[in-house]
Amino acid sequence: MSDIHMPRKLKIDVLRYDPNLPNEKPHMQRFIIEEAHGMTLYVVLNEIREHHDNALKFDFVCRAGICGSCGMLINGRPGLACRTLTSKLPDLITLAPLPIFKLIGDLSVYSGEWMRGMNERLETWIHTQEKKSDINKIEEPMEPELAEEIYELDRCIECGCCVAGCGTIAMRESFVGAVGLNKLARYHLDPRDKRSDDEYFELIGNEDGVFGCMTLLGCEDLCPKELPLQSKIAYLRRTMLKVGMK
Ligand code: SF4
Ligand code: F3S
Ligand code: FES
Repeated sequence: MSDIHMPRKLKIDVLRYDPNLPNEKPHMQRFIIEEAHGMTLYVVLNEIREHHDNALKFDFVCRAGICGSCGMLINGRPGLACRTLTSKLPDLITLAPLPIFKLIGDLSVYSGEWMRGMNERLETWIHTQEKKSDINKIEEPMEPELAEEIYELDRCIECGCCVAGCGTIAMRESFVGAVGLNKLARYHLDPRDKRSDDEYFELIGNEDGVFGCMTLLGCEDLCPKELPLQSKIAYLRRTMLKVGMK
């Protein structure tokens, strides 16, 4: 009888390493999991933790591609585990933590710490010139197309996939990455942000900002939210070039 409908036995190779254990060395550990219909890597990892090894470290909050905490290398490619169906992958699946970020252990990294540093450095919030906010003041209307463009960029979930897949950051860790440039493009477009182009130039008119990006394109390929990262980096680069040539 054909075994076409038999569930696959998935071989899940996980990179195990706890940097807090003095004698621990990085090593691969294989788990065999029976595939189920509609199975995601979120389900796989929970099954491993429940039935094979409850010490396995990995991060999840929302299971719906919203919180950005489950980024990892899936067969060498950064992606969200909760949005990855095993049916799209071969029988052998290799999981490793995202590079660039500090390792907590196994598949868990401090991406939040990196993102906080980047957000503080680039001051990713609206800068008004008002000393105090007046809650009774009616906000200036915004063109719906512009609001839509800003909203599109606000969909970034800070998952770190674009950071982990960027060769520039691998060579220069101070580079702010596509995630940082996307955020500054978002604030630059927003008429409520009163920073001048010169102030933006101070932040990203350098090798750690727009002029460091080597257009390697991994960021846009890997972004699970399919953000238009390339066109926004190009937009900022054009704007910063004008400032630089003044
Ligand atoms: Fe993730 Fe995309 Fe945001 Fe990068 S830009 S952190 S890949 S959602
Ligand atoms: Fe990196 Fe994306 Fe630029 S992958 S080099 S930020 S195009
Ligand atoms: Fe939230 Fe995957 S668990 S994005």
